[in-house]
Order: sequence, then C-alpha cells, then structure tokens
Amino acid sequence: MRRPIGIFDSGIGGLTVMKEIAKVLPHEDILYFGDIAHTPYGPKSPHIIKEFAERIVRFLIREGVKIVVVACNTVSSVALQELKGLFPLPILGVIEPGVKKALELSKNLHIGVIGTEATIRSNAYQKKIKSIQKMAKVYAKACPLFVPLVEEGWEHGKVAVQVAKKYLSPLLKKEIDTLILGCTHYPLLQPTIKKVVGRRVRLVDASKQLAEQVKEELQKRGKINMEGAPSYRFFVTDAPEKFLSLGKRIMGSAFSDIVKMSADV
Ligand code: DGL
Repeated sequence: MRRPIGIFDSGIGGLTVMKEIAKVLPHEDILYFGDIAHTPYGPKSPHIIKEFAERIVRFLIREGVKIVVVACNTVSSVALQELKGLFPLPILGVIEPGVKKALELSKNLHIGVIGTEATIRSNAYQKKIKSIQKMAKVYAKACPLFVPLVEEGWEHGKVAVQVAKKYLSPLLKKEIDTLILGCTHYPLLQPTIKKVVGRRVRLVDASKQLAEQVKEELQKRGKINMEGAPSYRFFVTDAPEKFLSLGKRIMGSAFSDIVKMSADV
C-alpha cells in the first residue's frame, strides 16, 4: 500500500519545502498540513509551539504517513528532539541539513543565520553548527518582518531591500561568507537578500538539503516510490483561500484538494 509523506508547517510557507520534495521525489504522495489558525509560530513560546506540533504529528500518523517532515524552522528549532522522542516513525527537521550545507560552503567559517524570533532565541542553529565545527563563528539575527513582507507579496522592491539592509548589515560587518535562510518564507526573498549581501555571501536554502535527506531516509528504509503519479492533499486549520493564492505563488501552479480542519486537530 502506498503511504504518503507528511509535511507540516505553521502555515503556508512550508510549501517551499514541499516543492523541493516533490521535485526530488516525483512519485511520492504528499499530505501537507498548514496550521494557519495559529500562524505565525515565530513570536510564540516554545511550550505552545510544542503543543501544536505534537497534535499535528498525531494527526499525520492517523492519516497513515510513513515519514514526517517538519518544514517549519521554528518547530524544528524548538520541538524536533521532543517529537522524535514521542513518536516511532522517522521525523526529519530542517536545521541539520541546512547546517551541513553551510559548513560545506563556508571558507572563513563566519556563518550567518536568519530566522524567526523563536528560531534564533532557541539557539538551535548556533548549537548545531558549533557541535559539528567548534571553530565556526555564528552570527544570528531574527528578521520578524520578512514573513509578513512575503505574505503581502512585497518580497521584491524598495521596501524589502530597505528592511533586508537593516537586518543584514550587522551580519555583513562580521564578514560572514555564508548565510543560512532559516525560515520557510526566505527562499522567496532570495533575490532581495542577494542584492543586499552581494556575491561574496553564499545563501543556503535549507529546503533543498532537507528534500535530499528525505530521499536518502526513504531509500535507506526501502520505502521510496519509484513509479506512479503522485497525489497531493492539503489540510489547513483556517483561510483556505489565502492558502490557495499564496500557495500558487510558491508552488508556481494552482492546486486543489484542500480540506479545512478544526483549529485543534
Ligand atoms: N514557518 C515559520 C518558520 O519557518 C515561519 C512563519 C511563522 O512564524 O510561523 O520558522
């Protein structure tokens, strides 16, 4: 029996991860869960985020997923270890693959990390980098305005550049040569961020690395689907219309089969 990959996020941004997974694993069925009723997670406290995440994973398991992908950087930062301890199936987060790629790319080991307030406050990226490479210097910055900018469709243009300059100048002063985009929405801001940081700084889009890791994990467990057309299902806890319109921008094409769930799944 074909079992889907379960992907979840605080809302819509996790579709950036789904897009990469669908590219790398074109025959896999995917079940996407976006907790729009509770988004954004970024400013919330760890115990609330953990509570939401736990409920969502229980739901995904009830739906029969074979692996859970935590697309949300905020959840990956504050709840991944706990989720792994609670549930028997493989659960992958976005931190480790992004960190590994950054360490591969960086020459001077001055690494910048940007994300939501909860992600940066958790120190998850900083700790992971240091645990692999003690010599690395990590400069982290929360960029809370980036998510609403993207959701408003303002990721390009003067305002976005100004905001990016304000957030990123302190990191540039530290001579970072690599910058981890530690949030689901930031891949959409890449052109703007590139304009601000210049060509010397390599950007790490963790969603690409995570997709590769999901493929490796399924291969290792002999659970990869190599044929058949994929089916995609979407569950959201609020605002399916918003999910559709922003989702179309992220995925590059329209999609359907959206189910509106209760806010406390
Ligand atoms: N999905 C979140 C993340 O990647 C960003 C949006 C939010 O704050 O909920 O951290």
